[in-house]
Amino acid sequence: MVASQSLLAAASFAIGASALPSPWGGWWSPRPNQGGYGGSAAASGSGINVQLGPRPFYLVNNMDNGTLKDKLESCSNGPFKTSSFSISHRGAPLMFPEHSKQGYIAAARMGAGIIECDVSFTSDRELVCRHSNCDLQYTTNILANPELAAKCSEPFVPYNNVTGEPASAKCCTSDITLAEFKGLCAEMEATTFNALNVSDHFGRIGDTPDWRTNMYAYSCAETMSLKEQIALVESMGLNFTAEAKTPEVPMPFQGDYTQEDFAQQIVDTFVDAGIDPSRVWLQSFLPDDIFYWLAQDNAFGEQAVYLDERADLTADGYDVAVASLPDLAARGVKIISPSIWQLVTADNATGTIIPSSYAIAANEAGLEIITWSFERSGPLEVEGGGYYYTGVNNIVNNDGDEFYVIDVVTQQANVTKIFADWAATITYYANCMGLE
Ligand SMILES: *[C@@H]1O[C@H](CO)[C@@H](O)[C@H](O)[C@H]1NC(C)=O
Ligand SMILES: *[C@@H]1O[C@H](CO)[C@@H](O)[C@H](O)[C@H]1NC(C)=O
Ligand SMILES: *[C@@H]1O[C@H](CO)[C@@H](O)[C@H](O)[C@H]1NC(C)=O
Ligand SMILES: *[C@@H]1O[C@H](CO)[C@@H](O)[C@H](O)[C@H]1NC(C)=O
Ligand SMILES: *[C@@H]1O[C@H](CO)[C@@H](O)[C@H](O)[C@H]1NC(C)=O
Ligand SMILES: *[C@@H]1O[C@H](CO)[C@@H](O)[C@H](O)[C@H]1NC(C)=O
Repeated sequence: MVASQSLLAAASFAIGASALPSPWGGWWSPRPNQGGYGGSAAASGSGINVQLGPRPFYLVNNMDNGTLKDKLESCSNGPFKTSSFSISHRGAPLMFPEHSKQGYIAAARMGAGIIECDVSFTSDRELVCRHSNCDLQYTTNILANPELAAKCSEPFVPYNNVTGEPASAKCCTSDITLAEFKGLCAEMEATTFNALNVSDHFGRIGDTPDWRTNMYAYSCAETMSLKEQIALVESMGLNFTAEAKTPEVPMPFQGDYTQEDFAQQIVDTFVDAGIDPSRVWLQSFLPDDIFYWLAQDNAFGEQAVYLDERADLTADGYDVAVASLPDLAARGVKIISPSIWQLVTADNATGTIIPSSYAIAANEAGLEIITWSFERSGPLEVEGGGYYYTGVNNIVNNDGDEFYVIDVVTQQANVTKIFADWAATITYYANCMGLE
């Protein structure tokens, strides 16, 4: 182990010599004597000195005894490196305000090979990274700025302690310009249902779940345009995934900006930045976006990811989705992306987790599968992990079970990439299993 690590350090010295320019400061460059990654620059695609922090090791320690735990323990000395199997979901929102520059950099440091920007548009039709068209009231400090708060689609209304009506506001990216958006700070996703005033309504003093943290929300976490996010990710030698967020304002916006214009503008932004389509995974929950990209620009359509939440929307949605998979494949969809729970089911006779009928049907249809999102559920001791572990809640009961589920979706359901709110966990698994 010691010998092989010093060989790797030597290899990374050679790579470091031809490293990328480092617009974010010299600290970013791979440091010759601390090269904690293996493989070649071409294979890893980045020169990042990947650091996973204590969490994956905690999770491995917390696992139930067995061969999977033994295998994961055997990898504890690394080496750790960037993996395209590991997708940063919204940056690193377990700890960092989502879709902030600081969160993206944290995810890159944790070995995410692909960094996500959820794309929404502003009133001047610029593209920005926000998880929802209208979430500024609970992911930024917009309500603290009276001038910008006045532009919100729906103003702040305090908690009504007589009727019990929760506090509310609705602030959309399309309510403000890019310049105004750039003046906002990203905050932890949190609302305070009983807020009585605006200063009560910040994520940082709001109901950020106690298993996340506001540590990185006190100094202004930078909000980013898609262009800036592309430049940042490119400077780190990593790849891209951009989701066309379903607009919450009527389309066409401002009378003439259509859904197709929006889908095309995302493509154009990557083209203008000189990014090869093979490095971009566009996503949408709207099948029409996927079919648009397939028809208009097949180079981007080929890697478009159809996010499938139909199972969450109607009582028969799961069955409808399973039945539709062969047809989607026939229509050119290559990658399907359901939430974790749709891919697994409990085999109660043996107390194990196995692939679901959805996973089997997706494999049979020849679809590639990407799933979302690990590290978003909080402690698995609570309610068997909740939503993302629906159907297997009775088997999931300790934090280490997360690796068990990651292993089932990977080795048995055959997912090719995984989104996570804390990339280190997926990078650890990918590096240990030799997944590039
Ligand atoms: C980025 O994508 C390209 C094309 O698919 C691939 O060759 C490269 O290894 C990827 N880099 C990373 C860091 O995943
Ligand atoms: C798990 O393995 C450890 C180390 O071998 C042992 O001390 C412990 O008792 C085992 N736990 C269970 C529940 O079997
Ligand atoms: C409701 O809020 C008002 C104003 O803050 C306060 O005076 C009153 O005591 C509250 N009533 C209850 C039932 O909490
Ligand atoms: C906002 O409400 C909180 C109680 O929820 C109160 O402690 C605080 O003083 C209020 N701030 C202002 C500026 O009214
Ligand atoms: C397994 O058992 C749990 C708990 O009793 C139940 O909720 C679940 O529906 C069962 N799953 C299957 C696939 O039978
Ligand atoms: C995953 O791939 C393996 C090997 O090709 C195959 O045997 C297995 O059935 C696939 N899993 C599912 C759920 O179809």
